[in-house]
Amino acid sequence: MKACVYPGSFDPVTNGHLDIIKRASRMFDKVIVAVVYNPNKTATFTLEERVELMKEVVKDIENVEVACFQGLLIDYMRAKNVQVIIKGLRAISDFENEFQMALMNRKLDNNIETVFMMTSERYSYLSSSAVKEVGSLGGCIKDLVPDVILHRVMDKLANKGD
Ligand code: PNS
Repeated sequence: MKACVYPGSFDPVTNGHLDIIKRASRMFDKVIVAVVYNPNKTATFTLEERVELMKEVVKDIENVEVACFQGLLIDYMRAKNVQVIIKGLRAISDFENEFQMALMNRKLDNNIETVFMMTSERYSYLSSSAVKEVGSLGGCIKDLVPDVILHRVMDKLANKGD
């Protein structure tokens, strides 16, 4: 079975992430969306919220499962016995950082490949940070995050300061 892991913070999941998940789900038998828990980085949405939102977003895509991990991605890949990491690329500006991470992961385990997928151009400007900034300042985030989670994301961002 061809499986891949799509790792990320997903703080929160955007339509750009969903676009990559859909593309990957057509290429692989199984896609594991792995939400990272990084105790050294403060996320706006808790790990539980990020996982829950992601589950809601992918619930109709049969071959996608949602999990979380802490520590090295490579260790998680080995534990799951999966050899392919999926990463989304939006623009050249993503490339440098992603290239560095891919080479570091390859250095840690030469059997694991990173596969880059281009996001649809209509999401090329979209990031979780931009969603959070726009949403917390009262701007409209419809079309930026999947409709099924729009109100939950809006509520959370509106009450961020509480
Ligand atoms: O959505 P993000 O924040 O760009 O995702 C980054 C992520 C989670 C893929 C990356 O931070 C990661 O792989 N973290 C796990 C720690 C690790 O393995 N680091 C070594 C790779 S440089």
